[in-house]
Amino acid sequence: MPASVWALRHLLNLPRQALQVYEADNSGMNSKPREGSVVAPERRLKFLIAHNLNKFLSSRYLKTLNKQYLSLLVRDLDSLPIGDTWIDFPDLFVFIQRISFQASIKTLAGLELFNVYPDIIEDLILFQSYVPDMLYRMPRWLIPRAHRTRKRLLGGIRRWHEYASQQSDIHKVAPDDPDWEPLFGTKLIKARQIYARKIAEMTPEARAAEDLGLILRPRETSPTLHFGLYSKLVKTSVYAEVLRLYVASGIVRVVLHTDTDVAGYKIPKNSYLAMYSRSMAFDHTAWLRAGRQLGRPLHEFDPNRFLVDTTWKRPWHNNRGSEASQKTPAVPMETPDSSKMKQRFFMEGLLGLWIPYGGGDHVCPGRHFAKHEILMTFAAILSEFDIQLEHPKSKCTLPNMKYATFGALPPASKVPFRIRRRKAAALATA
Ligand code: HEM
Repeated sequence: MPASVWALRHLLNLPRQALQVYEADNSGMNSKPREGSVVAPERRLKFLIAHNLNKFLSSRYLKTLNKQYLSLLVRDLDSLPIGDTWIDFPDLFVFIQRISFQASIKTLAGLELFNVYPDIIEDLILFQSYVPDMLYRMPRWLIPRAHRTRKRLLGGIRRWHEYASQQSDIHKVAPDDPDWEPLFGTKLIKARQIYARKIAEMTPEARAAEDLGLILRPRETSPTLHFGLYSKLVKTSVYAEVLRLYVASGIVRVVLHTDTDVAGYKIPKNSYLAMYSRSMAFDHTAWLRAGRQLGRPLHEFDPNRFLVDTTWKRPWHNNRGSEASQKTPAVPMETPDSSKMKQRFFMEGLLGLWIPYGGGDHVCPGRHFAKHEILMTFAAILSEFDIQLEHPKSKCTLPNMKYATFGALPPASKVPFRIRRRKAAALATA
């Protein structure tokens, strides 16, 4: 069973009948079904899911998502009960998690979900902390709270689906229809309802499980936090470096159709292939082979990791490699030494080494939105508030490896901090 379907069953409790639709779908993810597949077009679940995710999380829809996220985030930040005097908080991670989760879910799913289910953020945060236990199949009697929380989440999402469909037309996904509305949020949610309702086995329970999977993304908070800890270097290179160090994604594939060959190794049909983003992120030899000079060892944070001199060329490996590097010029960007602009942000040659978002057909469809969320959350919080860490050593907080292979790594310990509002502080002293 592919890893994503396995997670749908064991983490999100997708009903068995719906699972069978996934298992019977041998038509692939492309618009053209695989040869020999006789699956009816409306039951091509894998294609329908991938197609709609890629469509509604990119291009013009991405612009709407980004704009909506920023305005909702700023609105939520404005309403926080924080004035111009310092207040202590026990944990920066939890603080950012609540704020970014709320704005992100309102952006994707609209505002009505919060009216129907006011405790959704608390329940999502709680459930998220059980994700490793659930995926390691810890017995139910050891984690009853996780199961109760999941039940509440699935029930709440189902109630929201029902209410929003009564008040709004799920079919309004044409280019002229609004890209975002308060009842359903983005068109993506409506598009998912349209195709799922044509499949009898995709019952209201199954549709709730699917959408819980979409909104439960324990991923951006941790990069945003670590990004914040290196606050003076607001740059794309820092973003890439934070994801290299603090995301631990396990990327799993099943050889579904025929025996295959990977780098000279024979992989029989039905075998699992697993890649671990941190193995690649820390592979010293492979980074050197890609032509990167390692100013600092790979287990350390280096804000300049992804910058190269303007004259830098990727070492010649073969004709394809050298052609590719000539065709893809380094992207100029501000660097920590931006006054001289002698360096460029450059990812060429790191395709298999920097894989926090996975790769290939299943590469994370939310990666562009995630990047925006991380950069915007960080920028909005720092423009609105002054933040001081209680202990300077918090900057060296280690990641919690319990979450390894499930995406972003939260910090292993709390990061106490104090905070005050900037504008108010400025007004008060004026
Ligand atoms: C820093 C943030 C994020 C990280 C590190 C991340 C990472 C990943 C990874 C590693 C995968 C599996 C890729 C593979 O198997 O090759 C994935 C899949 C996925 N991600 Fe993300 N993700 C992030 C944010 C998001 C966001 C914001 C969304 C939605 C708005 C999202 C939606 C998805 C979906 C729906 C899939 C399943 C795709 C499929 O199976 O075809 N992710 N993500």
